[in-house]
Amino acid sequence: MSRITALTAIEILDSRGRPTVKAYCSLDSGITAEAAVPSGASTGTAEALELRDGDPKRYHGLGCRKAVENVKTTIHAALAGRDFANQRQLDTALLQLDGTPNKAKLGANAILAVSLAFARAQAAEAGLPLYRHFAAMSETTPRLPMPTINLFSGGKHAGGQVAIQDVLVVPVAARTMDEAMNMTYNVYLAAAKLTGEKYGTRPLKADEGGLAPPFPNVETMLGDAVEAIGRAGYRAGSEVALAVDVASTHFYAGEQYHLDGQVLSSEVMVARLMSWIERYPIISVEDGLAEDDWAGWQAFYQAAHGKVMVLGDDLLCTNPARIERAQSLKAADSLLLKVNQIGTLTEALLSYQTARSADWRVVVSARSGETEDSWLADLVTGWGGDYIKVGSIMQSERLAKYNRLLEIEARDGIRMGA
Ligand code: PGA
Ligand code: ZN
Repeated sequence: MSRITALTAIEILDSRGRPTVKAYCSLDSGITAEAAVPSGASTGTAEALELRDGDPKRYHGLGCRKAVENVKTTIHAALAGRDFANQRQLDTALLQLDGTPNKAKLGANAILAVSLAFARAQAAEAGLPLYRHFAAMSETTPRLPMPTINLFSGGKHAGGQVAIQDVLVVPVAARTMDEAMNMTYNVYLAAAKLTGEKYGTRPLKADEGGLAPPFPNVETMLGDAVEAIGRAGYRAGSEVALAVDVASTHFYAGEQYHLDGQVLSSEVMVARLMSWIERYPIISVEDGLAEDDWAGWQAFYQAAHGKVMVLGDDLLCTNPARIERAQSLKAADSLLLKVNQIGTLTEALLSYQTARSADWRVVVSARSGETEDSWLADLVTGWGGDYIKVGSIMQSERLAKYNRLLEIEARDGIRMGA
């Protein structure tokens, strides 16, 4: 039983310089723990609501003072002085207090910050590293994920030079996190050199630290990634594979896909995705189709299931009901889990377990607007997620997570894989 004595919050800035929420949870044992929440740019329409002030005089309307006030007043007043046996009880109280289907009253940013700060406070009270507390919550054995790491970016995270959002490297031959990071570093350096030679550009970086030269089309972007893997001395496919986040919701309009100067029907888009899978060593395709093109997703699943992960981000929004729908329609076979898409740890765990119940793979993901908080590394390790997707290795808000994984490996001996 943990009795909350105080909940408070402040506004801090994320990696794009935009406000976000950091909450503090104090327990009567004397422990105070904190947690900061991230924010997306390539957001799905079914995501929980991130409460923004809308005051054009502060941060172009993006201020989070209302969310901060909600923690300090409404949430503090309702929860301080109460005992909570576990995360579920705390999150249920938060959901009841909000009372809306998408957390519009208090804000998912306020609610999740409190949910996470409470988890950290409970872990500290139990004397456990955060990942062990998460493992106890989900009744799983901790393990380190395989990282999927941004190499090239386009779409909403870059200048839109190429429509698709990310080409990621997956160091599949790595047996340790240490090895995975070293392999990725080698590929990243080779890619920076290659794109400098080919496009004459300095290594400009997108929101998540991926390189963003002016690729003429997606095929060149994928081909350059394969070439960089080779130049770094690895076999493309068996040692370092690729994953793509197509993020196609963001170039879908009028039921057509606007890609590389062409306008594609859903059917042709599926054929295009399949041609990339045939030509390049891709193991995962995220958001290959738009979030409301369910028929397109079903067609892609029929063609690609068993060859690559058919991974849903905007489609699923870490929402158990949408995951169940995708399972019954055979529209996807893997979940991209972003905790702030749903807004409490308990609901995110339910999404995780719903995915697992159908033998889905789970990729635990950061957001493009991140903070230096590293709770995501503990969460993926504790819950035993298959992959983590955090961005490149060149920015500290990303490295906070990678470095935490390295720490869990080096100090606690937790291993990758099964
Ligand atoms: P977001 O993008 O955090 O900007 O929504 C990440 C993704 O699409 O996976
Ligand atoms: Zn995505």
